[in-house]
Amino acid sequence: MFRLFIKQKHTFQRMEQKNKLYYGDNLEVLRKNVKDETVDLCYIDPPFNSKRNYNQIYNNIGKEDVAQAQAFVDTWTWNSIATEGLEEITSNKNGVFTKQSIFLVIGLEKVLGKGSLLAYLVSMTQRIAEIYRVLKPTGSFYLHCDPTASHYLKLVLDAIFCSQGGDFRNEIIWAYSGGGRPNDDFARKHDIILRYSKGEKVTFNADAVRIPYNLDTEKYKSPKSWGSHNGSEKIYAPHDLGKIPEDWWPISPINSQSKERLGYPTQKPEALLERIIKASSNEGDVILDAYCGCGTTIAVAQKLNRHWIGIDITYQSISLIMKRLEDSFGKSILEKNCFTISGIPEDFESAIALANKQDDRVRKEFEKWIILTFSNNRAVINDKKGSDGGIDGTAFVIDFNEKQEQILEQAIFSVKSSKTLAPTVIRDLFGTMERENAVIGYLLTLYDMPNLVKEATKYGNYQNKMFGHSYPKIEVINVQHILDGKKMYLPTVDVLKKANRKTPEGLSKDMFGN
Ligand SMILES: C[S@@+](CC[C@H](N)C(=O)[O-])C[C@H]1O[C@@H](n2cnc3c(N)ncnc32)[C@H](O)[C@@H]1O
Repeated sequence: MFRLFIKQKHTFQRMEQKNKLYYGDNLEVLRKNVKDETVDLCYIDPPFNSKRNYNQIYNNIGKEDVAQAQAFVDTWTWNSIATEGLEEITSNKNGVFTKQSIFLVIGLEKVLGKGSLLAYLVSMTQRIAEIYRVLKPTGSFYLHCDPTASHYLKLVLDAIFCSQGGDFRNEIIWAYSGGGRPNDDFARKHDIILRYSKGEKVTFNADAVRIPYNLDTEKYKSPKSWGSHNGSEKIYAPHDLGKIPEDWWPISPINSQSKERLGYPTQKPEALLERIIKASSNEGDVILDAYCGCGTTIAVAQKLNRHWIGIDITYQSISLIMKRLEDSFGKSILEKNCFTISGIPEDFESAIALANKQDDRVRKEFEKWIILTFSNNRAVINDKKGSDGGIDGTAFVIDFNEKQEQILEQAIFSVKSSKTLAPTVIRDLFGTMERENAVIGYLLTLYDMPNLVKEATKYGNYQNKMFGHSYPKIEVINVQHILDGKKMYLPTVDVLKKANRKTPEGLSKDMFGN
């Protein structure tokens, strides 16, 4: 009877702390949705100020077998967002900034001036202050960065954590090899993970992460000397389960041959996150990744029976994470209420708000959302800045040619958010289809466009020889159709790589609701 009561209480706690995926800017999401002292472990892998734009790699789409679209931008400029951020910090908005972090940012402004690096550091200071707020007193924070800005970020972290009773615990070096190498320099082959604790007492599960001793160097220490002092160096007795890893981690990165590879730029290996999550959290704890990319932290947290909160500002990441979770844990994870998604347009007003966002970082987010939702992730986003030749996305249709050989035809997507559109838009789309040799054209509109629907019917049908179906050559679909669940109904190739199925061991039943 007593045991039954304990179990029920446990299940209730789990249901209360639902897993959450947020589409949006993490600063806004943290401020609005994540309460003080509710997170056990936060890992972030933010853009490093690399001045690069990162591209998603797509597969299975013809001769070159690869296409790219911009996944996220890591180029920072001093703009109105940076000015607003600096003002928030120096005026200590909401009282979340420590005196040390305010003085640090004022000092950095003097040293660096108002440019790209300061814009980056202002953005990080705002967000790290929020992360500190949401961590539990026993919580841990891991900030993944590289030598471009790690020295500045450590100052920011010290100013936020150490000035409030937190502690700097480790500078972890993630060491790897492979990839390109310069001819005239040492190859830069490590990232830096700065580990901080919010308070003195912190979760650290040594036994969960032990690794074998290195017999080449460690076996020579005479058993008699273990546990004693050898000069200034203390030599510890060997532990039956192995040693706690050093602060340098030789873990293979994701390369073109990796089984885990999803084609997402900057994807981190699951082994890295497994070590962090196992060391610094327990089953049922809440893990936050506020820059979750293709969802490595989330997939590992789910596998290890932790609760999770993921945030990303681009729709490509959000849709990729949903696919990763489905491929890894089965459809039930989407169906059985295992997590909630917030920030994706659910009604016409929020779709209008997304279409009207002015922020350059989220340029094209409306196009990405509408194309990926309608195509069920089976389209490649065209991210060219400025003129896109009328094409915002492409899907690849499977068909037969005259000789009954399998070929791929193109379906193209054009997105328009204007309130009024003339029928010439349809003619232009048809012109683009002819130029690109595309068999289908989808015009995705924000508003209902009966005049264009009528115009589109003039262009007849495309006949798919492989499946014996015919489809309208041009279709006009509006946001309301998509909100009502309308999907592209075409035989197309899967342009994204599938995540490996995770074994069910380690998955708690109540997380799946059965
Ligand atoms: C380096 S990637 C993270 C990769 C991730 N660790 C993985 O293994 O897939 C950084 C991510 O941060 C996201 N991002 C950048 N600024 C953001 C912001 N202000 N709020 C939320 N996400 C942001 C980008 O869209 C990108 O997906």
